[in-house]
Amino acid sequence: MSLPRFTPTPDGSPTPAMVEAYRRDGFLIIDGFKTPAECDALRARTHGLVENFDPATVASIFEASGSQSHAADRYFQESGDKMRFFFEKGAFGPTGELVRDKHGALNKIGHAMHDLDPVFEAFSRDQRLAALAKGLGIADPGLIQSMIIFKPPQIGGEVNCHQDATFLHTEPVSVTGFWFALEDADETNGCLIGIPGVHAGGLRELFQYQGDKLVMTKLGEKDWPAEREVCLAAPKGTLVVLHGLAPHRSAPNASPRSREAYALHVIDRQTRWSPGNWLRRAPEMPVRGF
Ligand code: FE2
Repeated sequence: MSLPRFTPTPDGSPTPAMVEAYRRDGFLIIDGFKTPAECDALRARTHGLVENFDPATVASIFEASGSQSHAADRYFQESGDKMRFFFEKGAFGPTGELVRDKHGALNKIGHAMHDLDPVFEAFSRDQRLAALAKGLGIADPGLIQSMIIFKPPQIGGEVNCHQDATFLHTEPVSVTGFWFALEDADETNGCLIGIPGVHAGGLRELFQYQGDKLVMTKLGEKDWPAEREVCLAAPKGTLVVLHGLAPHRSAPNASPRSREAYALHVIDRQTRWSPGNWLRRAPEMPVRGF
């Protein structure tokens, strides 16, 4: 099975067929939403950020102790309104040295690229995207989270099957993912894999603060119907819209090609933001729209 693919309308607003596919599948694939030049500009900006980033400033957080250390937890927990750099597992050796060039060792940068960097802001605050979000039913969009995902060659790790509303929860659920392929993504380099039509079944896990600890709570059935998985191959420039309850994952990237993507998450500010969410922003950085 494969999902329908669409091409963008001139002003970005979805056609009735796009809205129908999104409601039915929980996914909407729009090829060529961004031009190759727009993708290249975002990649060039990203590589500039990485060039200016000194891994030594965070090596002590990640080395040896692994990602479960208190310092690593805080580095993540405080990243909601910052641009922070996260490494792949195994990027550091036992002595705290990077085992490969930093450009090929990073997992992601997040989580407020869209507010803190002008190039990311322009890519994100695209009025065609605003029209698309509105047409998909987001009444008062708020740009809550953004990240560049590297999925580097050979060590790009897998992401387990999840729903985005597990991590960015509102009542009712409103989070919507806008995932852009900045390079061709296919089965060989760890493209998105989704399970269409399951989003109507509700939220299965919730990742929230309990006191000062982040805890994953089971809400529903554990196993996803893997036999219904579809590969969401995405040529460069493709936008995949993900409903907040649509389960998705990605495989490791064992290929020699990178698979860079940009993910922007939007909530509806007419819903109630769950105060236990991991993502926190300083009062001087309120959630803004498109
Ligand atoms: Fe996700």
